[in-house]
Amino acid sequence: MGEVSFEMPYTFRWIETTPHFDIVLLKLKKGFPIPPHNHPSTTGVALVISGSTCITTYELEDALHEVKRSALRVVKMSEFRAWDVSTLTSTRDNIHSVEALDDFCHIIDIFTPPKNFLKATIYPGLKNVGRCQ
Ligand SMILES: [Fe+2]
Repeated sequence: MGEVSFEMPYTFRWIETTPHFDIVLLKLKKGFPIPPHNHPSTTGVALVISGSTCITTYELEDALHEVKRSALRVVKMSEFRAWDVSTLTSTRDNIHSVEALDDFCHIIDIFTPPKNFLKATIYPGLKNVGRCQ
């Protein structure tokens, strides 16, 4: 599978896709966080394989508002280093942002069901993006 430049400088490399799950290599560059987004109806496992990352999770301040317009509240900010694992489910830690704390950070993501993570909602115009540093 080829390397796909999704939105530089994030780089995704599809390692495997099956009827049941995807395995994706994510390369992050310091200073270019992936903004808050969700992975609807998805369970995910993220294994940091090099560098370190800050993963911030959020909840909607008002779930009754249209999702894209609702403000987010930071739930927690956690630092992950090589060999640390972070997980999300459809109902836990699903809205999150990710940023490299070192020059580069590589993460193996496993998502089930497959292709669902491409249906992410990215939350625009957020003022409260969490930062570990
Ligand atoms: Fe994500």
